[in-house]
Amino acid sequence: MTALLEVEAVVGGYGAADEILKSISVALAPARMAAIVGPNGAGKSTLLKAIAGILKLKSGSIRLDGQVLSGLPPRGIAARGVAFVPQEANVFASLSVRENLEMGGYLEPRAKVEQRVEKLFGRFPILAEKRRKAARTLSGGQRQILAMAMALMVEPRLLLLDEPSAGLSPKAAGFLFDSIAAIHAEGTAILMVEQNALEALAIAEEGIVLVDGRVARTGEARALAEDPEVRRLFLGG
Ligand SMILES: Nc1ncnc2c1ncn2[C@@H]1O[C@H](COP(=O)(O)OP(=O)(O)OP(=O)(O)O)[C@@H](O)[C@H]1O
Ligand SMILES: [Mg+2]
Repeated sequence: MTALLEVEAVVGGYGAADEILKSISVALAPARMAAIVGPNGAGKSTLLKAIAGILKLKSGSIRLDGQVLSGLPPRGIAARGVAFVPQEANVFASLSVRENLEMGGYLEPRAKVEQRVEKLFGRFPILAEKRRKAARTLSGGQRQILAMAMALMVEPRLLLLDEPSAGLSPKAAGFLFDSIAAIHAEGTAILMVEQNALEALAIAEEGIVLVDGRVARTGEARALAEDPEVRRLFLGG
């Protein structure tokens, strides 16, 4: 099977620290979901930024459906169906919920925007209820749902999520993970970075363990979650 996403020997970083990612290779098949876990500072967010085109690579390549993404501007990567939800500052605080969704669809034809906003209101009734409220008035969990819904406005083929459950209550995180699993079940490929490793591995099919800018382990998510060494090193038990 041809991979949807192929990250090949990617090296990159920030300014002088240009080798934060030390030759990373990962692949994701169409409609699959992988959880990226690993200690703080391992380069998890940096890898997502590299895929989204926010980070300039020093070497290596990133392809979607065999076509090179690396080197394209973030807008060009988004236009090919890759949507990125960063961990922080992922909604426009002073815009209404509806306006945020419209911003998420700014690359889309106008006629589609209305239709997709309505579809997302159907899927996330809390957003419909709060459509005229400023995003800053939402709870943390509602804000993460809005950020994800903004990404879904482009009907992405690949959704990149950076720590969607960070700072949420267990209940809010549970709702969010259920929503992510439902989006995945409809056929969207997802690459999700999570601190909450066990819950992430429970809804993903594959796991990728990053340590110090390298892929330390990959495999079936369930097997990784049960692996004693992985549990001891990365899952705190
Ligand atoms: N904008 C930046 N400029 C310079 N260095 C950065 C920048 N962002 C991250 N780094 C460094 O790159 C390394 C990897 O950071 P990254 O944010 O990718 O880690 P992470 O695995 O996402 O960690 P966390 O679990 O804390 O979110 C760290 O050493 C970090 O200090
Ligand atoms: Mg991070």
